[in-house]
This record gives sequence, structure tokens and C-alpha cells, in this order.
Amino acid sequence: MDARVTEIQFVPKGDARGQLIALEALSEQVPFEVKRMYYIFDTTPGTVRGNHAHKNLKQVLICVSGACTIVSEMPDGKVVEHRLDWPNRGLLIEGLVWRQMKDFSKDAVLIVLASEHYDEDDYIRDYVRYKGFCREFNCVTKV
Ligand code: TYD
Repeated sequence: MDARVTEIQFVPKGDARGQLIALEALSEQVPFEVKRMYYIFDTTPGTVRGNHAHKNLKQVLICVSGACTIVSEMPDGKVVEHRLDWPNRGLLIEGLVWRQMKDFSKDAVLIVLASEHYDEDDYIRDYVRYKGFCREFNCVTKV
């Protein structure tokens, strides 16, 4: 349940035709088996998504078009922001991180690779409960 947010740089296999990025499960970039993928697009201006943490889920977030900002609050209360604005950058989120997605550009397409199937029981959607979880399980911020 320790928490970590890591920026990942993908190396494009570019040539005269353009760019291509290939990601493999169980690799340095995606260090888990990918069981699910979803994407967020056509986001209404001003929308803030997320506002939850996960108990077990690991995710890699990639904004393959446009831009958005990921705000991560760690168990020790530290808040970090990452602007994802290029397809060769990803964000690996592991453990009890309270996250928000905001400031989506009109053309933003945010792809999320996830280590588990969708499971509502894995969500902590209440902030006070999240802080209680962090205390109860003595979560460590690994940044
Ligand atoms: P929600 O948790 O509100 O998304 P976000 O965290 O980005 O704000 O999810 C919106 C809806 O989509 C909600 O009814 C649950 C559903 N959903 C799935 O069915 N499968 C999924 O993999 C995800 C992420 C959401």
C-alpha cells in the first residue's frame, strides 16, 4: 500500500514516416500485467475527474493527444502535479495516491493502462476515509 508516482519517458521508434511508441506489459515502462485499458476524451471544459484513491491498482497514464494535469496527493500529504502534454511521457501511479485529473485541453485523450479489472471495491472515494486508510496501514510515500 506504499505510494509512488513516477514519470516515465517512452522512447519513440521514429523514422521519416513519423513516430511510434510501443509499450509492453511487465516492462520497465509498464511494470505490471495490463488487464484493462480505458481512455478519457471529449472532456467538458473545467471538469475535474478522479477525486479518489485505489487500494491495489497500478496505472500508467498517457495523454496521447492534447494535455491534462494529474494532481497526486501522497500519504504524507505532499502534493505533486504533472502536466502530461506529449505522447512520449507517462505517469506510473502505485499505491494509495489520492488523484485528480484536471485542466484538460479540448483535444485531450488520456489513456490509462490498469493492472486490474474494474472493481468498485478497490476505490476509496471519500477523502476522510483515504486519510484514515493511510494512517491505519502506515503507508509510506516513496518519492
Ligand atoms: P469514474 O470513476 O467517475 O471516472 P474518473 O475516475 O475518471 O472520474 O468513472 C465513470 C464511470 O465509468 C463510472 O460509472 C464507472 C465507469 N467505469 C467503468 O465501468 N470501467 C472503468 O474501467 C472505469 C475507469 C470507469
